[in-house]
This record gives sequence, C-alpha cells and structure tokens, in this order.
Amino acid sequence: PQATELSGKHIVITAGPTREAIDPVRYLSNHSSGKMGFALAAAAQRMGAQVTLIAGPVNLATPAGVLRVDVVSAAEMHTAALQAVENADIFIGCAAVADYRPEQVADNKIKKSNDGMQITLVRNPDILADVAALKKAPFTIGFAAETNDVAHYAQDKLARKKLNMIAANDVSDTSIGFNSEDNAMVLFWREANNTVQQQALARASKSAIAQQILQQAAKLLS
Ligand code: C5P
Repeated sequence: PQATELSGKHIVITAGPTREAIDPVRYLSNHSSGKMGFALAAAAQRMGAQVTLIAGPVNLATPAGVLRVDVVSAAEMHTAALQAVENADIFIGCAAVADYRPEQVADNKIKKSNDGMQITLVRNPDILADVAALKKAPFTIGFAAETNDVAHYAQDKLARKKLNMIAANDVSDTSIGFNSEDNAMVLFWREANNTVQQQALARASKSAIAQQILQQAAKLLS
C-alpha cells in the first residue's frame, strides 16, 4: 500500500478477547486470537497512520511502530478505548469483548462442594457503540462474526450501533476467522447520503484483508 494513505491519521484499534474474572484463579473468555486486530494495526502503521492498539490477553508480538496498551477485562478495555479515541480519526472495534461478566468477583478461590453452582452474569458496556455515540465520534468500524444471516445481522449492527462501516464474516466456516491465518469478509458502509454500500473481500491473509478495509476507510474519509 501507499505509505501515505493514512498519514496524519490517528487510529485506535481494539483486539483479542477479554477475560472476566470469577475469582483470583478463574475467568470467562473466548477463543479470539487477536490476529485480525494486530494485522489491522500493522497495516495502518504501514499506511502512515499513528496507531494505538488496545489488546486483550493474546500471544502476539507488537507490530513495529505501534503503541500497545494491554488490558484484561472489558471494563478496562472500555476505559482505555474511550481515553485513546479523544484525538482519534478512526476507531476499529476488532476485539471479541465478553458480553457479560460475573456480577461478583470472589476475593478468594471458590471451593467446590458436591452441589452445582450458579454464577450471576451482568452486561458489559458496548465499547464500539459507546465510541460511535460520542459527540466527536471518530470514523467507527465494527466487526460482526455470525454463524447465519450474516448480511442481515451486519447491516442491523451498522444501523443500531451507528457505525460508519462494518466488516462481517461467517464464523460457521471454521477454515477462516478466529485462530486462522486467513479471513473472508463482506464490508458494509454508509455513504455521506446515508445509503449502504457493500463489497465482498475474497478469502485472503488477514494482512491483505486488513489493508483492503483500511483502504476503503481512507477513501471514505478523504
Ligand atoms: O453485538 P456484537 O458483539 O456482535 O458486535 C460486535 C462488534 O462490537 C465488534 O466490533 C466488537 O469489537 C464490538 N463490541 C464492543 N463491545 C462489546 C461488544 C462488542 O466493542 N461489549
């Protein structure tokens, strides 16, 4: 890509899973590897942007020239993201944020008994929707991982969360997405006149997909 396509732009990206503590040794989480978000950070940096990468717990090296902020829980990611977007041009919510967290975090390791147990869960904040709702919201891009009716749910999310763009993928195809090196997506975005356009991104490396998403965003921003 041209090294100047995003020069002068500050991009904030969330990546990876979050962990929601149950007690000091246990948590709820998901299988997100963080690879797509890290690929976006590396591509944005190559295209000349200043990049802040807010990462949940992942096993990935920080891309060169990227400012990385490590977080664990959704609440921490929410705080870090809202702080980082204050002077951002683009926000990309690529993290697989846990939708719920245990209402109580036990101070000590919970002991097992012969009975079952119940954990009450409460909703986490929606980081992407909260960023998009800011008065001075950056150009906001979300991700939608769906197992069915991908286009329908993605466009619903675009409208409901007031996003500028959404990248949707079908996670029922286990050869792409999550821990895979490749991805395939459909991009939906809102034009200035509010009509929704779409473009299919054929199966390619997460790095190539990241570049195409950012090129489309750069086009819409200019
Ligand atoms: O509603 P759903 O979780 O499917 O939306 C996915 C999109 O929203 C992703 O871009 C994800 O990063 C973002 N999200 C978020 N905070 C949440 C839940 C999802 O930023 N609590």
